[in-house]
Amino acid sequence: MFHTTAASRQPDYDELDRQLAGLFEGERNFIANAAQFSAFVAQTLADLNWAGFYLAHGEELVLGPFQGKVACVRIPFGRGVCGTTAVRRETVVVADVHAFPGHIACDAASRSEIVLPVIVDGRLIGVFDIDSPEPDRFSEQDRIGLEKLLARFIASTDC
Ligand code: SME
Repeated sequence: MFHTTAASRQPDYDELDRQLAGLFEGERNFIANAAQFSAFVAQTLADLNWAGFYLAHGEELVLGPFQGKVACVRIPFGRGVCGTTAVRRETVVVADVHAFPGHIACDAASRSEIVLPVIVDGRLIGVFDIDSPEPDRFSEQDRIGLEKLLARFIASTDC
């Protein structure tokens, strides 16, 4: 049986990584693992209002498995925080979304955001986007920890 810890603002990312390894054990299906990953992040990190994937199709990101309110479906590369991350191919942390030029407000409650590129064998297959209603929600510790969790997802999944 799988148990998660309570949602935390200061999570133990090594422990979360161990839990993720257990969650993915015996399953490599992309949709299943992407949906589970979104739910896992949403239920283990505090103060989030959206967590999920946008997947690359040509020069566009298309909404994938997520947790949260309904969201915009298509984001061109270069647009918003997600499209910027797709072009830069590195994690983008935005402490104040209102100060980010071109930010796309899917949920008006969002105040800060972190978007991680999903890169498999040098190929960008999408991004993983996390929003918070709290300003400056995502620390450097969160960036490092979330990159580790995303690496676990990629290693455990047929992408
Ligand atoms: N804020 C994102 C759009 C996606 S939603 O937040 C779910 C952006 O600026 O790219």
